[in-house]
Amino acid sequence: MQNFAMNNGLEIPALGYGVFQMTSAEVIEHLPQALAAGYTHIDTANAYFNEVAVGQAVRASGTGREGLFVTSKLFPQSYPYEQCGRDIDATLERLGMDYLDLLLFHQPYGEYVAGWRAMEEAVRAGKVRSIGLSNFSAAKVQQILDVAEIVPAVLQVEAHPYWNQHELKSRLAGHGIVFEAWFPLGHGDKALLAEPVFDELAARYGKTNAQVILRWHLQEGNVTFPKTLDPQHMADNIDIFDFELTDDEMARINALPQHAYYSVPDEPPAFATAVNDYSQQV
Ligand SMILES: NC(=O)c1ccc[n+]([C@@H]2O[C@H](COP(=O)([O-])OP(=O)(O)OC[C@H]3O[C@@H](n4cnc5c(N)ncnc54)[C@H](OP(=O)(O)O)[C@@H]3O)[C@@H](O)[C@H]2O)c1
Repeated sequence: MQNFAMNNGLEIPALGYGVFQMTSAEVIEHLPQALAAGYTHIDTANAYFNEVAVGQAVRASGTGREGLFVTSKLFPQSYPYEQCGRDIDATLERLGMDYLDLLLFHQPYGEYVAGWRAMEEAVRAGKVRSIGLSNFSAAKVQQILDVAEIVPAVLQVEAHPYWNQHELKSRLAGHGIVFEAWFPLGHGDKALLAEPVFDELAARYGKTNAQVILRWHLQEGNVTFPKTLDPQHMADNIDIFDFELTDDEMARINALPQHAYYSVPDEPPAFATAVNDYSQQV
């Protein structure tokens, strides 16, 4: 497994296992398979309603906590300063863990500037090792940078060969922020997976099209955590460290037409403001 260096001196595994849209039962079944296959990095969120199952699956697998990198995310209802501290504790309680490796603000709405101070306090208290943001534009990241005593270590955004995020990356260059790619395989988009450039490169390297895409992410410096319930895909997705795309091949992939699958609206959509009870999970 390759790691990327973060701006706080810590490292993050470049590849992990994402559990978005997985039921608790699916997590209990498939997360131990992923850990057995060599994954050490798990990406969950309050809003995935499966943190209790993530904790149970990790404990049942016998994998020691120190060997894992666990990320969760808070939704905007948790950002008000005092609420934020309480909800970080509730997140740890659901997971049954003493600390998180990474905690993100999931959506760029509400009182994220006030909440950042609570995130920093959680780092100082040893409850969270690294903190970051998700779905924030460069302008909204700047609002955090303007008040931050601890600079965000990570920005998790939609990224894949159809949306390479080069503009966002160049706007935030210089802060050492590691980019994480959600929808790394385009959420399984068959058109993306079947692009002729991936057919050609997969044949050249003896890999699958998905492995070529994940290798592109790695060389772009993107952390990924592709989601899969398929044991063969699980094995394939982590087997990307034994080949290297050339600069020309990277450029050909980066020449694909660009479009996002999802545009983050400036104002919060209804789902981002709904107050959910995350204790109701299993
Ligand atoms: N911060 C955010 O707002 C946000 C938003 C979305 C996602 N995320 C994170 O990003 C993670 C990944 O995103 P995602 O799950 O939506 O999309 P994704 O990983 O891009 O795509 C998942 C789809 O790709 C298929 N797939 C996986 N490996 C494959 C392979 N080797 N070959 C062919 N198909 C393959 C899966 O089907 P099979 O089961 O058949 O393999 C599944 O349908 C999430 O789990 C979550 O942790 C974060």
